[in-house]
Amino acid sequence: MLQTTPPQHAAIEAFGAYRPARVVTNDELATRVDTSDEWITTRVGIKERRYAAAHETVVSMAVEAGRDALGKAGVAGGEVDLLIVATCTAPSQLPSAAPQVAHLLGASAPGAYDVNAACAGFCYSLAQASHAIQAGAAQKALVIGVEKLTDWIDHDDRTTSIIFADGAGAAVVGRSGAQGIGPTVWGSAGDRPEAIIIRSRDQLLEMDGRAVFRWATTEVRAEVDRICGASGLSLRDIDIFVPHQANMRIIDNMLRALDFRDDVVVARDIALAGNTSAASIPLAIDTLLDAGQATSGDKVLTIGFGAGLTFAGQVFEMP
Ligand code: UT7
Repeated sequence: MLQTTPPQHAAIEAFGAYRPARVVTNDELATRVDTSDEWITTRVGIKERRYAAAHETVVSMAVEAGRDALGKAGVAGGEVDLLIVATCTAPSQLPSAAPQVAHLLGASAPGAYDVNAACAGFCYSLAQASHAIQAGAAQKALVIGVEKLTDWIDHDDRTTSIIFADGAGAAVVGRSGAQGIGPTVWGSAGDRPEAIIIRSRDQLLEMDGRAVFRWATTEVRAEVDRICGASGLSLRDIDIFVPHQANMRIIDNMLRALDFRDDVVVARDIALAGNTSAASIPLAIDTLLDAGQATSGDKVLTIGFGAGLTFAGQVFEMP
């Protein structure tokens, strides 16, 4: 029998975000591909999105979002002993982005690694940070979802170029007197690898949008009740619902089928942020906090889903 540290509780302390400066409207995209503001608005619910400039890299955007979250939590970079970057658009195969992000934030030799679970990456990484703190493997974790999808989309393909965008969102996770992050429900469907795929480093993203839409509105939707139940709650207890920002019609479809309260706050950040994959959930939460639509202690249910296929979600208490 080996010695172990006593179990701890983990909670989120603050969120942060970084949005690239450049706003790209539907009308701008319609000058390049055969589409329209009307089609994108009604079929996807996006009005505009952000595109990173050359100097806005996965690492630099992650650093900015991380710094924002640390500042809001009142935590110094040097206190971070675990840094997880959720991304599927890291510029290099090796090294991963997290050690560089940690170094630039002044963290002193933390555990640092990337997670590639596509659009579910933030929820997977939040789970790992929570587990590490609960197990005593870390005391202060920084979880960052970041993507520069514009490097990986075919800007002449109207089925993907109108959806994907860039940005970063972050959360500080620390020890707490009570558990503020519920059990994670996660899973995968590895029989559908081609639904969303980048075949190699010199190829661009391909997506079977209809297949992903169908999966999200059937199998993924059914997981929302399980996520809630894992925390011992009913959907009526949930104050804020933050699904992955993939398509406004997927969000509306989920809402129609799920028994949330009428006054549940629903993240609809996709309208102004587009689909930023692993960054979409923390960015959407940051938007709700900025707009005063979220209060400390609110019960938030998240669910991320995407390439793999993978999904993950949990309930947490808003810091
Ligand atoms: O974040 C990772 C997870 N990803 C997702 O969850 C994405 C899920 N899928 C979707 O959000 C939707 O499937 C899309 C937004 C990708 C596509 O919307 P859709 O309503 O499923 O469109 P569709 O592919 O069934 O296409 C309908 C029509 C087609 O024309 P025809 O064959 O009916 O004549 C397409 O060629 O719309 C056409 N179309 C477009 N028209 C104008 C496809 N893209 C466009 C476009 N502008 N950008």
